[in-house]
Amino acid sequence: MTTDNAAPHGAVLTDTPPGGERPLVELRGAGKSYGTVRALHGIDLAVHAGRVTCVLGDNGAGKSTLIKIISGLHQHTEGEFLVDGTPVRFTGPREALDRGIAAVYQDLATVPLMPVWRNFFLGSELTKGPWPFRRLDIARMKKTADEELRAMGIVLDDLEQPVGTLSGGQRQCVAIARAVHFGARVLILDEPTAALGVKQSGVVLKYIAAARDRGLGVIFITHNPHHAYMVGDHFSVLRLGTLELSAARSEVSLEELTNHMAGGAELAALKHELAQVRGVDVEELPDAPAPGSRPAPSEGDG
Ligand SMILES: Nc1ncnc2c1ncn2[C@@H]1O[C@H](COP(=O)(O)OP(=O)(O)O)[C@@H](O)[C@H]1O
Ligand SMILES: [Mg+2]
Repeated sequence: MTTDNAAPHGAVLTDTPPGGERPLVELRGAGKSYGTVRALHGIDLAVHAGRVTCVLGDNGAGKSTLIKIISGLHQHTEGEFLVDGTPVRFTGPREALDRGIAAVYQDLATVPLMPVWRNFFLGSELTKGPWPFRRLDIARMKKTADEELRAMGIVLDDLEQPVGTLSGGQRQCVAIARAVHFGARVLILDEPTAALGVKQSGVVLKYIAAARDRGLGVIFITHNPHHAYMVGDHFSVLRLGTLELSAARSEVSLEELTNHMAGGAELAALKHELAQVRGVDVEELPDAPAPGSRPAPSEGDG
């Protein structure tokens, strides 16, 4: 029983974890400067087991910097970074991995010409036999990869097929299953749906949910509020390196989230600017550019 799970630090952290357990990973007023460039400042974030924390934000908002701190690629230069309630400062991704923090990057570290099962074990190959006769335990690797993929509900026709023949979505799914197999407790996904179509994105979102259901704490980076809202339990919107919004699902609607992402205030200002330009009917402009909500072009105005 843990009793030291007091209210999360910072007023913005309002989400109550199930059972009130301690966050797996937590940032408290954390920030990062690259020399004189302050990329991230005053970030509060908590990642809980069995929950999906979405990090949203425009290009340059600081999303990658945030996950680089958590995955051990960079060190924070202000505030605190805690794992299982203990302040840490990783010197590299290996240390983060040892603590069960795994990141799946957009440009996946897979070898396209190698079979799926081989990629699954890349860098952690199973071997058999005593030294110096150790050799790859191919049968066991194939069997394990097959079992793990199936356990996540991922069905591939043939694990012998080169990873390069899989779709982008399938490759993301293999990477997720791989992280789960190698003991990840915290799974960081950097824009996994950015380059994917609607159907493929749906598949990846399904496995994000599957990872969550297996009890992992998932950090889902995206700039698509619709994708975030489909699986997210908590939403953190970054803007120019600071936390613009941190809200539990119950506290924010998809519309509000979309508006935050679109920079509601900026859009209003833009509308005002456009109103000065003759011929632009600002009433026709959307409040927030939600996909599919574009007003029909008005024809025959004059
Ligand atoms: N290695 C770096 N050196 C200097 N500035 C950087 C570095 N990485 C990121 N930045 C700056 O930090 C800010 C946040 O970048 P980043 O975290 O990549 O944002 P995002 O992933 O949301 O697009 C940007 O202004 C970017 O130019
Ligand atoms: Mg980025």
